Amino acid sequence: MSIERLLKKKIEERKAKICVVGLGYVGLPLAVEFASKGYFVYGLDTSPSRIKRLERAEQYIVGVDFKRVLSLIKKKKFLPTTGQNVLGNSDVIIVCVPTPLRKVKIPNISYVSKATQAIKKYLKKGQLIILESTSYPTTTREIVLPILKKSGLVEEKDFFLCFSPERVNPGDKKFPITKISKVVGGLSFKSSELAKDLYSKIIKNVVSVSNPEVAETAKLLENTFRLVNIALENEFALVCDRLGINVWEVIEAAKTKPFGFMPFYPGPGIGGHCIPCDPVYLSWKAKKLGFKTKMIDLASYINHFMPKFVVAKVEEQLKSVRSSEKKAKVLILGVTYKKDVKDLRESPALDIIEELKRKGIKVDYSDPLIPYLKIDQIDQKSTSLTRSNLRKYDCVVLVTDHSYFDYEFIRKNSKLVFDTRNVYKKDFDNVRRL
Ligand SMILES: NC(=O)c1ccc[n+]([C@@H]2O[C@H](COP(=O)([O-])OP(=O)(O)OC[C@H]3O[C@@H](n4cnc5c(N)ncnc54)[C@H](O)[C@@H]3O)[C@@H](O)[C@H]2O)c1
Repeated sequence: MSIERLLKKKIEERKAKICVVGLGYVGLPLAVEFASKGYFVYGLDTSPSRIKRLERAEQYIVGVDFKRVLSLIKKKKFLPTTGQNVLGNSDVIIVCVPTPLRKVKIPNISYVSKATQAIKKYLKKGQLIILESTSYPTTTREIVLPILKKSGLVEEKDFFLCFSPERVNPGDKKFPITKISKVVGGLSFKSSELAKDLYSKIIKNVVSVSNPEVAETAKLLENTFRLVNIALENEFALVCDRLGINVWEVIEAAKTKPFGFMPFYPGPGIGGHCIPCDPVYLSWKAKKLGFKTKMIDLASYINHFMPKFVVAKVEEQLKSVRSSEKKAKVLILGVTYKKDVKDLRESPALDIIEELKRKGIKVDYSDPLIPYLKIDQIDQKSTSLTRSNLRKYDCVVLVTDHSYFDYEFIRKNSKLVFDTRNVYKKDFDNVRRL
């Protein structure tokens, strides 16, 4: 039997051993789904502390049921480990390692390269390798493939290689990964077909595209689409502010059009590891080819301006309510980059805090997901939202709209609230909206 047919059979009979490399927001839910569907899954991560937390069922990622994880470990369906040798025991290897930006805002694909080096060491005939980490077009062909080729094995003949972008939306109960269509783009037709067979076991709609570059670029289009549309709404918010028009009502009105319009919302800025970073991967690659992406650069510029705008608006509000010369006190409500997600990466709240402090304003924060904040120049504890604590602040700035907050209580007990997320939906005497 050919290696391709053999792997197909193993996938079909759920006998294929899967190794998920990188057990973060993307890798862990994926590993859990395959293990729950009867596959034996290794979870390989370089972080011993992550493995220990997994074994203790300590929740480190929102939306993943850690009791389910523990039960899969006990049933010997899921084996989290730091031991790279499991790569050699696997039929399928799925790479979900980080692809951040370097300080100088260029792609950092060192995690992908290191993970691929490890795979090369254990690469054997008949393995299917899938890269899920978001990256610029040609990463699979020009970075991953050359490393694997050094093993002496040949793609399509000896092993199979694919790119399949992850679209997980952490914290989204409506769309778990099993309900999100998956795109696969193989170096060869055989690779695409095998990846399609595999993902079809956990996801209903799997779409095969011509090559890895289409799949890589599709992911970047999805995130650039969000970046640009959020920037457009942020620009509308800036214009509406000068015009004295309520931008939220404008969006609600535009939304009534049944075609040709999709609502996006302004806010305090963008965060996380996708929207601010992924489009930069594309603009960096385009620049290498002598093309300057204007939309991406402009959208990033506008979105990065928003924390400054929030600070300017807060200062304006403070002037209107304060007569005393004493240092103003501000409470930031929510510091993670996203509602109900315990993730501080690129969070605009951090920029807002730093900028307010730079202006001599005393800043505290409250976030049930982040009891202690120690990052860059910030080192402080979350403030509890008691009546007396709230009264201490000249302004409460609502940055992240967690569902854990009692917004009515906060409004009733605060002197002034600046709402950057339109949580309050209407005007109150002590609430100003972005
Ligand atoms: N977080 C999201 O919402 C999201 C959505 C879609 C796509 N993505 C993309 O998926 C990829 C992974 O993102 P994430 O949010 O899951 O990252 P993460 O930081 O949450 O997790 C990555 C994990 O990989 C581990 N790791 C790093 N190098 C390793 C190596 N060589 N071998 C084994 N493990 C290694 C880290 O210890 C960490 O546990 C990125 O490319 C990201 O852009 C993320």
